[in-house]
Amino acid sequence: MKYIENHLMKIKPAISKIGLGTARFGSRMDMQKAFELLDMFYEQGGSVLDTARNYDEWAGDGRGKSEECIGKWLSQNGNRKEMVLCTKGGVRRSKTGERYFDLSSCSLCEEVKESLEALQTDYIDIYLLHKDEKSRNVEEIVETMQRVCEIGKISAVGVANWTVQRLKAANDYAKKNGYREFQIVQTWWSLAEYTKEMWNDENTTHMTKEMYGYMMENQLLGMAYTAQCKGFFQKAIQDGIENIDEFLKKRIVTPKNIKKLGFIEEYCIKNSVHPTAIVNSYITDNLLQGIALVSCSSVEQLKEILEWDDYALNQKIIEALDAI
Ligand SMILES: NC(=O)c1ccc[n+]([C@@H]2O[C@H](COP(=O)([O-])OP(=O)(O)OC[C@H]3O[C@@H](n4cnc5c(N)ncnc54)[C@H](OP(=O)(O)O)[C@@H]3O)[C@@H](O)[C@H]2O)c1
Repeated sequence: MKYIENHLMKIKPAISKIGLGTARFGSRMDMQKAFELLDMFYEQGGSVLDTARNYDEWAGDGRGKSEECIGKWLSQNGNRKEMVLCTKGGVRRSKTGERYFDLSSCSLCEEVKESLEALQTDYIDIYLLHKDEKSRNVEEIVETMQRVCEIGKISAVGVANWTVQRLKAANDYAKKNGYREFQIVQTWWSLAEYTKEMWNDENTTHMTKEMYGYMMENQLLGMAYTAQCKGFFQKAIQDGIENIDEFLKKRIVTPKNIKKLGFIEEYCIKNSVHPTAIVNSYITDNLLQGIALVSCSSVEQLKEILEWDDYALNQKIIEALDAI
């Protein structure tokens, strides 16, 4: 397992560069299977678990289930101190089911208390604002985070799905006034070309050149979601692009991504490497320090990821992939 180096955060356990996505745990994936994945990840040196207060709201009554599942697993194993918990707040649903974003002090403080209870812990390693409430000014949000950090005993804060302009404005204000800065950015970041169709959600972001440059300059940590593009490269190489499911065909197949696929396939054959190694090492060996968040629907998928997690991908290959 690779770990984050020279980070400025106060997180004590080593921060693994593979993070386990737990969105479906305890809801779309039953607790027993989730525990199997958690056990395997932990035994192989993984420490970062990514969850959110609203996971897994897409599964009917799933809100809070992911955090509860992690809380039960931690309490059963007594290993809280060895794990790095990342949770998020700010996404709400109205009584009639509409999603909205609320970054008010009152709402975030309530959510962070609920997260602590569900996770069965008294501190949070990483807390992220899951989305941006664009109509609320960043000064107010930065000030709110001071209170949220006290309640949640939070080691590091960050944002998910924010634009670089809003992030920069927030961090400039925090720096000037001695408040906590956002040190982590979670966004869709992968070797594949970005497609609007993947998420089809105007409140979802991807790693832009501007964001990448800002993060490099300020040594922010990247948390890459959908780093594996839902298994597109692995599945297309194993089964043939014509046999991947319609979901992937619609969302990720572009001329550029087909070229990238060809490049990876050739590289893998020449170097006897599994495509999983390339997909995740693109993040874990990137010049910008990053954690590849992976989620798996089977133990076999996680086993494969962990078998290849130490693979060292040359910068020249990363550059070649970026140049396609
Ligand atoms: N902050 C945010 O807004 C945000 C958004 C999205 C995700 N996230 C976080 O990021 C985590 C990961 O996101 P994601 O689910 O989009 O990631 P992902 O790893 O790109 O996609 C997961 C899917 O990839 C396939 N897969 C996984 N391992 C594979 C392997 N070894 N070989 C072939 N296929 C494989 C599986 O698809 P099949 O089941 O079809 O086999 C699996 O369900 C989430 O759980 C969540 O914690 C955050």
